[in-house]
Amino acid sequence: MNGNLSIIMKNINVTILFLFLSALFTTCVAQKNNASFKNLNSTIIQDFNEADSQYRLMMKEVPAGRFPKTFEHDSLETSGPGWWCSGFYPGSLLYIFEATKDSSLYYEALRKLNDLKQEQYNKTTHDLGFMMYCSFGNAYKIDSAEQYKSILINSAKSLATRFNPLVGCIKSWDSKPGDFLVIIDNMMNLELLFWATKATGDSSFYKIAVTHANTTMKNHFRPDYSSYHVVNYNPVTGAVQEKRTAQGAADSSAWARGQAWGLYGFTVMYRETKDKKYLEQANHIADFILNNPNLPKDKIPYWDFDAPNIPHALRDASAAAIIASALLELSKYNKAKSESYIKVATRIIRNLSSPEYKAAVGTNGGFLLKHSVGSLPGHSEVDVPLTYADYYFFEAMKRYRELEKNKSTDLK
Ligand code: GLY
Repeated sequence: MNGNLSIIMKNINVTILFLFLSALFTTCVAQKNNASFKNLNSTIIQDFNEADSQYRLMMKEVPAGRFPKTFEHDSLETSGPGWWCSGFYPGSLLYIFEATKDSSLYYEALRKLNDLKQEQYNKTTHDLGFMMYCSFGNAYKIDSAEQYKSILINSAKSLATRFNPLVGCIKSWDSKPGDFLVIIDNMMNLELLFWATKATGDSSFYKIAVTHANTTMKNHFRPDYSSYHVVNYNPVTGAVQEKRTAQGAADSSAWARGQAWGLYGFTVMYRETKDKKYLEQANHIADFILNNPNLPKDKIPYWDFDAPNIPHALRDASAAAIIASALLELSKYNKAKSESYIKVATRIIRNLSSPEYKAAVGTNGGFLLKHSVGSLPGHSEVDVPLTYADYYFFEAMKRYRELEKNKSTDLK
């Protein structure tokens, strides 16, 4: 073999070795990702099975026409259908039913939907998105019954009556004349409006949602992308009169669930409009949350990022569940950060599945998660289970499984 040929052969061998090692590395990474998915999968299956047992217990305690809120002082607290949380119980039952196929939960959900449907005409609340989309919206995905469609459209029409074009927002809380109160939570009610435009072809719902989101983006956020809880507008001029909190530690603080609602809301805005400015906003909010020095290592936030007694402040499992669910969706839209978002969401699901946060079957009034905070300044629902903590935890686990399914398909 002459010298040149021997050099060429050596190079070919090096190239083959390099290609072989690269393939081996890629396979190992894929297997590692698959392994972590598989690991969490068995946790999720167990969580849904336990949730099934828990909700079958809870079902026996919920009076007709009532909706579970929390479990405090050894007693299940419930509300009527007009409370902002009424949709989470039927929504949770449907998520568990989808995972376990336990039809007794499905029938309980149908009974509650029947009690809830009168709210389609409720014009006194901005929470119709929570109440009707988390319940009837999920029911419609399982069974595209005309009745659900019409209830959802009427709900969107009721919600739209609260929009003030001078302010550019849907009114959150009714208050005294001269006030127009908008809370960051209201971002969560916009998904119903997008759905209504797709269902009816009437773009006015879409326009209201976009205008509300734009006004919120302009006035609710601080330069670090944390958000105020409440903005009070002049209903005639649209001018901002006041920025404050209702459920946070201080007007200037970052109430954890408020940050979670913002993250989730702007992720939905991007999904529904494909406008990059909403994706950027969601990424900035995620950065604020995930890089916050007060976010604990286990990624379950304190009830407020600026709570006065950190590290002894209470945690809020509801904020963690909402953040996990939102990050799993956002991971699909941001290739560069996808893995890191999934990693945090995975960590949250894992930690909420630990005995620290997940109740033993037969305890906790039938709720799955413990340790959420409703309103600490209001001394209401402090360090308790909350219906929406469970709902967004179930949603996060469902989203994780869907991502995993797509990822396994990608790897084939
Ligand atoms: N207002 C809804 C919440 O407490 O997050």
